[in-house]
Amino acid sequence: MSIHILAIETSCDDTSAAVLQDTVLLSNIIANQTVHAQYGGVVPELASRAHQQNIIPVVHAALRQAEIDKRQLSAVAFTRGPGLLGSLLVGVSFAKAYAYSLQIPLIEVDHLQGHILSHFIHKDTPAPRFPFLCLCVSGGHTQIVKVNNYFDMQLIGSTIDDAAGEAFDKVAKMLGLSYPGGPLVDKLAKEGNPNAFLFSQANVADYNYSFSGLKTSFLYFLRDRIKETPDFIEKNKHDLCASMQKAIVDSLTKKLIKASRDLKIEEIAIAGGVSANSALQQELIRLSSQYKWNLHIPHLTFSTDNAAMIGIAGYFKYLHNQFCDISSVPYTRG
Ligand code: KG4
Ligand code: ZN
Repeated sequence: MSIHILAIETSCDDTSAAVLQDTVLLSNIIANQTVHAQYGGVVPELASRAHQQNIIPVVHAALRQAEIDKRQLSAVAFTRGPGLLGSLLVGVSFAKAYAYSLQIPLIEVDHLQGHILSHFIHKDTPAPRFPFLCLCVSGGHTQIVKVNNYFDMQLIGSTIDDAAGEAFDKVAKMLGLSYPGGPLVDKLAKEGNPNAFLFSQANVADYNYSFSGLKTSFLYFLRDRIKETPDFIEKNKHDLCASMQKAIVDSLTKKLIKASRDLKIEEIAIAGGVSANSALQQELIRLSSQYKWNLHIPHLTFSTDNAAMIGIAGYFKYLHNQFCDISSVPYTRG
């Protein structure tokens, strides 16, 4: 008999609900919160209020699109963390109440594990084979994870300060672009020269990352140039985006190459919002032919936050009877 999972994701500023029938995605509704754009970043208080308003209509839309009745659901999966506390609380509380009222099991999912397991949502191309290395790059995290199986994930390296997505967003803000800046930098960079400006990269040990120095050097660089040429940003926007993007992409891929070589793993995947970046994808495709990698790039819908990834993680947990009870509380840090 098929398993139907209702999944809820409210860790940051997207309210999302999805329904899966085993590994097949039946619906994946995402309500983006536009209110944050004017503030240049997510305002936690506004995010939780918007989740509160969105959650019921989003869940109803997911059930409607999946064409199933709530009584057909086998379990409710939800993001327990990491994320913003107020945002998580809306999804966690809703999931508990919903599962409790339907008398069905409750499954807690780690947001980053969800990003990684999104590769196992049914599609035409094969899923990664274990063990694989996953570069998990989002607004809050930058990690290289060795994925041994659905639940055994080993953290190989991570950022010691800012996340890659945060670096994109901060650079965008300095250039006067709105939030989230990553997709805008990506778009403007397409018409720019990635070698126009050279930004030095951090030298961090092992498979770890650092992006705060890059961000600061960009700030000082802009300040000095604007003194000489007040409209420097306007005149060089495309080149600035392309050069900064190249610095971030080079830094991300350098450690991934090292990890792949050292661990002798050629099965490579990317996940998280920054995995939507076109320059990162192009560079990884190029590296794949150089290093004979078997590369897995998620579909755009599954790179940024979505409930489908929580649903697939929930499905594997369901198969292993990994349920939680209503005492489950959110955690904010990974
Ligand atoms: O995974 P995600 O949706 O949320 C978190 O878990 O943080 O990632 C959001 C991050 C933001 O920093 C956003 O700017 C970045 O992903 N992002 C991108 C692109 N699309 C989203 N960064 C660079 N290029 C993109 N195309
Ligand atoms: Zn995420």
